[in-house]
Amino acid sequence: MAATGCDCRFKDPLGARLSPEQYQELFKPSEYLKFIEAGFSSQNAFPRHTLQCYHEFFKSVPNGVKVLDFGTGPVMLSTISAATKASEIVLADYSEANLAYLRQWLQNDPQAYDWSPYFRYVVQELEGVGDREMDEREKQVRQLVKDVVHCDITQDPPIDKGYDQLYDVVVCSLVLEGASDSREEYRANAARLAKLVKPGGALFCYGIENKNGYYVFGNQRLPNIHLCHECWLGAFSNAGFCDPKIRIAPTCDPNRQYRFISCTRKTV
Ligand SMILES: C[S@@+](CC[C@H](N)C(=O)[O-])C[C@H]1O[C@@H](n2cnc3c(N)ncnc32)[C@H](O)[C@@H]1O
Repeated sequence: MAATGCDCRFKDPLGARLSPEQYQELFKPSEYLKFIEAGFSSQNAFPRHTLQCYHEFFKSVPNGVKVLDFGTGPVMLSTISAATKASEIVLADYSEANLAYLRQWLQNDPQAYDWSPYFRYVVQELEGVGDREMDEREKQVRQLVKDVVHCDITQDPPIDKGYDQLYDVVVCSLVLEGASDSREEYRANAARLAKLVKPGGALFCYGIENKNGYYVFGNQRLPNIHLCHECWLGAFSNAGFCDPKIRIAPTCDPNRQYRFISCTRKTV
């Protein structure tokens, strides 16, 4: 049900959610990495804001957890803080091109994207520890990532066979608004994510409240539905999550703001 005063918008100017083929065509990992690099030069924008949210979130997570990053993209952002608590990490994405970027970095390929400035930011600036820990953290992440697999939040199950199991922690950043065409689909997708979280386990979900109906990086424009605050929050309680912790931050565009929720899957 829509909330009173709801201003959700689904008819974006670009048409519906993209098929895997369209996604592969439009979402170029190299362009996305340039977009991330540009944002990194600004203190409060994405991806520093996401890194700060991951850092805060993982401080509250117990040691030895099994972590799934659902919709990782070509980026290693979540793993830097996840490695402080994880016993193993699984990375999953919709696009083969993104998975190839992740594998390249994990295999220590000299052509791989250099994530060291992001590791330095988290380990030195946010955690306040030194150079040696930073090198160690990169090694630790390479050891902890057990697999890089395909996922599609609109399918049942939403992840490759063998990975459709319960994780202590699931993180999902900037995925659901682009992968859903309506409020109902967003709710169904949040419910599919919930099925991957152990009862008592935690979900970290980062998104953008976006009245534009699309997002832009480089010269790409991709669809992105807009859910009002109540409908967005309602999707997580409807999916069986409780104890929501929310963080909202402005972007330079008044139509868009970052929003982050962490919540616990109910045990009964
Ligand atoms: C904007 S990127 C976000 C990447 C990364 N999580 C981050 O925070 O930078 C959106 C990601 O959603 C993934 N995605 C798009 N449709 C999806 C779907 N139906 N199921 C799962 N992931 C999807 C894409 O492959 C892409 O990596």
